[in-house]
Amino acid sequence: MIKRFSFGNPIETEATVVKLPVSSENELTKYIKLSADKKCMTISLEPDDIVYGLGESVHGMNKRGFTYISNNTDDMHHDEDRYSLYGSHTFVLIDSLSGRKLGIFVDYPASITWDIGFTDKDLMTVSLEDADYNLYTVEGEDDLSIIKEFRELIGPSYMGPKWSFGYVQSRWGYKSGDDFREIIANHKKYDLPIDSICMDIDYMDDYKVFTLNKENFPDLKALMDEMKAENIHILPNVDPGIKCEDGFSIYEEGKKKGYFCKDENGEDFVAAVWGGLTVMPDFLRPEVREWYGDLYKEFIEAGIDGFWNDMNEPALFYSRKHLKEVAHDLKTLEERVDDLTLNELWDFTATISGLSNNPEDYKSFYHTVDGKKVRHDKVHNLYSVGMTRASAEGFRRNNPDNEMLLFSRASYIGGHRYGGIWTGDNCSYYSHMDLLMHQLPNLNMCGFIYVGADTGGFSFHTSEPLMTRFLQLSMFTPLFRNHCALGKRDQELYRFKDIDTMRNILNLRYSFIPYLYESACDSAENGKLMFTPLAMAYPDDVRTRSIEDQLLVGDSIMIAPVTAPNAVGRYVYLPEAMRMLRFRSVDDFDDIELEAGNHYVDVALNEVLVFVRGGHQFYMAKPANRTALMEDADFKYFER
Ligand code: GLC
Repeated sequence: MIKRFSFGNPIETEATVVKLPVSSENELTKYIKLSADKKCMTISLEPDDIVYGLGESVHGMNKRGFTYISNNTDDMHHDEDRYSLYGSHTFVLIDSLSGRKLGIFVDYPASITWDIGFTDKDLMTVSLEDADYNLYTVEGEDDLSIIKEFRELIGPSYMGPKWSFGYVQSRWGYKSGDDFREIIANHKKYDLPIDSICMDIDYMDDYKVFTLNKENFPDLKALMDEMKAENIHILPNVDPGIKCEDGFSIYEEGKKKGYFCKDENGEDFVAAVWGGLTVMPDFLRPEVREWYGDLYKEFIEAGIDGFWNDMNEPALFYSRKHLKEVAHDLKTLEERVDDLTLNELWDFTATISGLSNNPEDYKSFYHTVDGKKVRHDKVHNLYSVGMTRASAEGFRRNNPDNEMLLFSRASYIGGHRYGGIWTGDNCSYYSHMDLLMHQLPNLNMCGFIYVGADTGGFSFHTSEPLMTRFLQLSMFTPLFRNHCALGKRDQELYRFKDIDTMRNILNLRYSFIPYLYESACDSAENGKLMFTPLAMAYPDDVRTRSIEDQLLVGDSIMIAPVTAPNAVGRYVYLPEAMRMLRFRSVDDFDDIELEAGNHYVDVALNEVLVFVRGGHQFYMAKPANRTALMEDADFKYFER
């Protein structure tokens, strides 16, 4: 049973597709206590409650015990002391052993603080900056039906085309068509499947969006024809910020039409991103979305059918205004070199590092919403939704016959209808595999199904065992992309020693694609989870309530990846008897019947575990080196 409550004058976020009537406040569930000013809600937590939700955030699958802030943030440190990541997914689901099952969606695009049993272990406190929001409560018999009802409210999810389930090779630093040719040649040489290659920011002319470095990309159409002949999709990176440069036609046109966010004086707000000083399109205006969405057209006409939208929190390296203030402060540093105290030095360092993504900057520019001026921080989490929507609608206008791939870095609920996401700049840490396991079901319940992480890790240098284990997890996620940062160790799979293992993993992934794609589409259309926590699937088995390192994938299988360094085995809990497939390759695997209960299972570095559930069927196709070359026939079936 879903109910809507509305307070103050909420901004229309378009997160929902069903417009529910507003219930009166006295119909609010007894579990939620609202403060008199409506800016704060408290909910008591029982000792065994699990609190799921908040999509992309740090910590466990069960969010209890920590504080989170829904405020889209460009932060590559996905550490335990962080409150916010790139996406804000403001839905939680409380599951009590006593029978209380309560979903809460706070539809509010500014910052929300969720203290989930942190200050007081038995209390959840949700605090907002203003009392202008819609609150939705969903009560029901079980978690999965609550999620389904919530997902009906927010509408069906975007799903990438089938080819987007193929392997994606990416790294920041590829500069030209020759880099792509080299990757393709090496994948051929070592017989490694691949479907897509990402073009990171270096393809642009001086980081100007929708331009090309003509020296490295003299003829995009010819290159795309060549790539098409190889069955390879090229995916450009697109940033929202538009470089301020006289003569740059996109900048000049947007300026003339008044399409950029404004500062308090009504001038274009200027901040630095990759291209240096840039302006920010006001994606909250339909005419700006239409304009921006059509900017993809030339690339689409050249044959591109997938993009990744980046930096759209929006990330601000610094604002011109703030930099001037800091520069002024720094002048005094020179005079103070001989008698500077440590505290003063730290203050200076903090001033410099505080230049990026500074909260004051987000309060210093404005959007126009329905003709009214709205300060950015009040609608911050909607910025990326506007960009994703602009792209998706542009694709529909300019390439209506083709399915396009789109994934974004920042997001808010509502954006799930227009594109998928990746989980941003993670690190080459084993713990970031655990983090992904925790994020997957929480993202799914908030509507994001086409998702994936930077496999192998973006920042820091990866190792061969870490990459191998990461692939063995990411091979189950819709977006399966190997991506890393500039200057980090080369991590294309053919750079490693045991290429046979890399090939076997990719082949397994390709053979699982029909199953994974069908599961993903089913989840996207029918409000189901693609990745389900065991406790939701086996609610009567209390032992599943604390299992966060195993997940169901689709209806038929359970995964239990190895995420610990140097481990060659792990404990697995089976809530029911299952058939364990321990794959070394598509054709070489152990097939073992396991009883319900605890098991220690050997999993060597070249092995992948798949558990088939009772009464279900899992199937594998014959792999190929491109999804386009796979025939959806010749399946191998595993039933239990
Ligand atoms: C951001 C993105 C990353 C990309 C880099 C350069 O950090 O998150 O994926 O490689 O920008 O474009």
